[in-house]
This record gives sequence, C-alpha cells and structure tokens, in this order.
Amino acid sequence: MKRSHASSVDTILESYQGASRDALIPVLQEVQEHEGYLSEAVIIKISRQLNLPASKIYGVASFYNQFRFQPKGKFHITVCRGTACHVKGSAKVLDMIMKTLKIGPGQTTRDKMFSLEVVACMGACGLSPVININGEIYAKTTPMKAVRILNELREKELVHV
Ligand code: FES
Repeated sequence: MKRSHASSVDTILESYQGASRDALIPVLQEVQEHEGYLSEAVIIKISRQLNLPASKIYGVASFYNQFRFQPKGKFHITVCRGTACHVKGSAKVLDMIMKTLKIGPGQTTRDKMFSLEVVACMGACGLSPVININGEIYAKTTPMKAVRILNELREKELVHV
C-alpha cells in the first residue's frame, strides 16, 4: 500500500532520530527518492529534525546537481555529462535543451511538461552522447535531434489534450 505523503517523509525522518548534521545528504537523498523533489514543507521538517537552518539546507542542496526543488515534469529529461558523452558534444545538446525549454538542470517548465537533470555516466557510453527521457534512451544525440525530440513530444501531448 502506498504511504501518504506525510507519513513517508515522517517515517524517513524518524529513522534518522538523533542523527547528526552529517546525515543531511543521505536524508535529502532518501526524501527526494520518495517525494521526487524537495518541497519547502519537507525542507522545514528536515531543518527541525537535524536542527539546521532551512537556509543552510537550501545552500547545501543547491550545491549538488542531484537535488531538485520542483516536481518533475511529465517528461523528465536526463542529459549525461560523463566523459564519453562530453567528448561527443553533450554540452551543446544540454545548451540547446536549456535554450529551447528555458530551464536549467533541476528545473521544470511552467506548463509542467518538461523537467531537466544532468547526471554522470548512464552506462551507455557506446551510444554517446546520450539523453534519457522517462526511461527511454536516445542515442547519438545532436542539438538539432534533441529539439526534434522535444517538439515531437510536445506535439504528441497537444494531440492528446
Ligand atoms: S558517459 Fe554518457 S553514457 Fe557513459
């Protein structure tokens, strides 16, 4: 049975009862895994639990690419920044996606259609540069190919509305 929002976060925090501030990153990771992102309410709860100011938690979490403060979009795009993908031009692909969607890593478009994340090697280096959208791998991506994929996804969604 799926636990409610409040209880799952509370259960995670209970398991860190008495933990020191060193537990901040694992707590953030675990909570994000459950919730999909770190909401303001959750950050305040963590702040109380670890006796750390919320501003400090935002500061630490913002430093790491892995944490996000907005819910994922309908299409969650992951761009690989591993060495093989980087050598094959993943930075240009990422730039083009950011320009097209007007969001950066960790952000979600206003219409909640797309969200973006940057990760290290996805283990598909032979297909580099690689992007992943909702679990589907797109191989040998170029900036133009990325724009085409985004347009196709958007069009498909509009047809369904
Ligand atoms: S470096 Fe991108 S899949 Fe390995």
